[in-house]
Amino acid sequence: MPSAFLMDGKPVTFTPGQSIAEALLAKGITAVRKTIKGNSRGIFCNMGICGECRVIVEGAPNICSCQEPAREGLVVQTQIDAELGGRV
Ligand code: FES
Repeated sequence: MPSAFLMDGKPVTFTPGQSIAEALLAKGITAVRKTIKGNSRGIFCNMGICGECRVIVEGAPNICSCQEPAREGLVVQTQIDAELGGRV
């Protein structure tokens, strides 16, 4: 049985060693965050520089999905910046 984490409640399978971003891209999921103005953002540099790929991981916001290893059972959510109340 392949390993999986949850992205917005849906299972995303991954290969050990992949980052969350790599696993999401492999499944065709490109938008992982919405800006304060509601614009979609996603994986851009894939090396921890741009910050566009920030998601909520286990309730913690602003985690760069390209730098965070995918792990079994992890709960990941699209980050909606407007809902963070200045924690962006
Ligand atoms: S894609 Fe640029 S920091 Fe993750």
